[in-house]
Amino acid sequence: MILNTAEKLLMNNPIRSFIQWNKEAAMFEEMGGKVSGHKVLEIGCGRGIGTEIILDHFEAGEVHAFDLDPYMIELAKKRLSGISGEKLNLFVGDAENIDAPNNTYDSVFDFGIVHHIPQWQNSIKEIARVLKPGGKFYFEEVTQKALNRWFYRTFLEHPTENRFSGKQFVAELEESGIQVGGNFTYWLFDDLVLGVGTKRNLKS
Ligand SMILES: C[S@@+](CC[C@H](N)C(=O)[O-])C[C@H]1O[C@@H](n2cnc3c(N)ncnc32)[C@H](O)[C@@H]1O
Repeated sequence: MILNTAEKLLMNNPIRSFIQWNKEAAMFEEMGGKVSGHKVLEIGCGRGIGTEIILDHFEAGEVHAFDLDPYMIELAKKRLSGISGEKLNLFVGDAENIDAPNNTYDSVFDFGIVHHIPQWQNSIKEIARVLKPGGKFYFEEVTQKALNRWFYRTFLEHPTENRFSGKQFVAELEESGIQVGGNFTYWLFDDLVLGVGTKRNLKS
């Protein structure tokens, strides 16, 4: 689902950018470390703040980033126009059907998008498919607890069924071959779940 106008305002502002740079990046780094030189995918990149963090802070070698909403990709292209095409590829795409062969990426980042996908389990299977064995999945997700709150119900638009708790999200990752174990945490009264999982090497 693409965002309604209220959520676009909530996402595309300096406060969201500050939280991503100063809180979420630090939590991700603590749980998963940097991705220096990695080939990285970002799903649902929005206007590209996460993309910039992955390149500048996490030191990725190259980032491919997509969003379902062409408007968001236009914003991201404008914001990141100074970055060379060898390091950055921005495109319109769908996390339920990722345009990449199996085992393509060293890491995948998700800054709060999967809770927008009605059949979100499909996107988890896709992430597991495009990650290389041993590759890492960095996730920050909004739980059903948050989506049930008055503010979310009144002003924002999300799938009304098939929502997930943090525990269900992590269980789905494990089921799809991304091992998280205890490497996740809750934030903001359990409204958010953040963690890093590693794709199992099926041969080991
Ligand atoms: C809550 S916003 C987060 C944007 C950005 N990651 C951030 O943290 O600012 C969710 C984003 O996911 C995108 N999105 C929703 N469903 C998607 C899908 N199936 N595939 C790719 N992107 C999707 C929306 O268009 C939106 O930009």
